[in-house]
Amino acid sequence: MTNITKEIIENKLGKIILDNKKSLPESNIIEGISHKDGHVQISLYANKENEEEIEKISKIVEKELISIPGMLSVTAVLTNEPSNEKKSSKMQPVNKIEGIKNIIAIASGKGGVGKSTISINIASAFSSIGKKVGILDADIHGPSVPHMLGLKGKPEVNNKKKIIPFEFGDMKVMSIGFLLNDDQPVVWRGPMVHSAIKQMATDTDWGELDILIIDMPPGTGDAQITVSQHLPLDGAIIVSTPQPVALNDAIKAIGMFKKVNIDIIGIIENMSYLLLGDGTKENIFGENGAKEMSKRLNIKFINEIPLDKKIRESSDNGIPFVIACPESPTKDIFISSAKAIEKILN
Ligand SMILES: Nc1ncnc2c1ncn2[C@@H]1O[C@H](COP(=O)(O)OP(=O)(O)OP(=O)(O)O)[C@@H](O)[C@H]1O
Ligand SMILES: [Mg+2]
Repeated sequence: MTNITKEIIENKLGKIILDNKKSLPESNIIEGISHKDGHVQISLYANKENEEEIEKISKIVEKELISIPGMLSVTAVLTNEPSNEKKSSKMQPVNKIEGIKNIIAIASGKGGVGKSTISINIASAFSSIGKKVGILDADIHGPSVPHMLGLKGKPEVNNKKKIIPFEFGDMKVMSIGFLLNDDQPVVWRGPMVHSAIKQMATDTDWGELDILIIDMPPGTGDAQITVSQHLPLDGAIIVSTPQPVALNDAIKAIGMFKKVNIDIIGIIENMSYLLLGDGTKENIFGENGAKEMSKRLNIKFINEIPLDKKIRESSDNGIPFVIACPESPTKDIFISSAKAIEKILN
């Protein structure tokens, strides 16, 4: 623990005077500041015209804040400036979403490693052990949860002015995919990503949930910043394949969550091996990569999930594998993963 307070940080920022002769806080370019135990993350608004200038300011901010005695790390990030949208109230972090006990994000550095597959199957595993589950698909660039759960249509709004989530079995489902038109590509700007994700999280009528699982887009962009800085996240699960490229990107994603003080619940290695007819395992993408990485980074290794044609097929048929193939031993891996996650959360 350190004694660094919000006031100390604001005081320091107030002493940074910009070319407009105003102090940094007066210049309305701070989107948000989060700090915990000597680690600070600050995001600054930038647009195409002033990006270079804001980049320079961000370096000054980092230098000034790290000079505060006891400060351990400072990260200044640039975020797209909202145009007509108001900067103030929309950008406030949400402290609690009524009725939801735990919120976790399923994230990865590299795309296509199986985040969505793991999200819907871990969700189904939680549901099958009697938990009330919600799935929030925050993949703004390629929402795949609707397809993987065979859900279609536009959500309706109830008399409490809340979005009625879709349902799969007992699970509540909300996806950015329900809000977009299939055939229109969307060009997302930072603030749009922010308000879309925040609205889905807070304006959906989830009811009582034991756990809300957020399926993230790959990488470390605007969606990650919104989820980690503005939603009451209990932790993130990092999915990786055993390949070195995926592992390197996973390390970057872990670094990003750690910087904003989000706990890493653990690592799930996906596509770890192919189970052959004679019971032997073929390590197509390499061996033990994520396991060794988790040891090195002192992060819990939750499980390895095999490459299984039925996992792909069931997703394409709109039914999570855990529900479609209840007899499979791989189903038990998902169930034990859910139990391990539950244990860590408690
Ligand atoms: N263990 C597995 N066995 C077989 N197929 C799998 C497995 N995991 C994922 N897949 C398949 O791999 C493809 C990519 O998986 P998925 O869409 O879940 O990845 P993602 O990380 O969410 O991708 P994106 O980064 O695009 O969101 C899908 O077709 C999925 O069915
Ligand atoms: Mg996905």
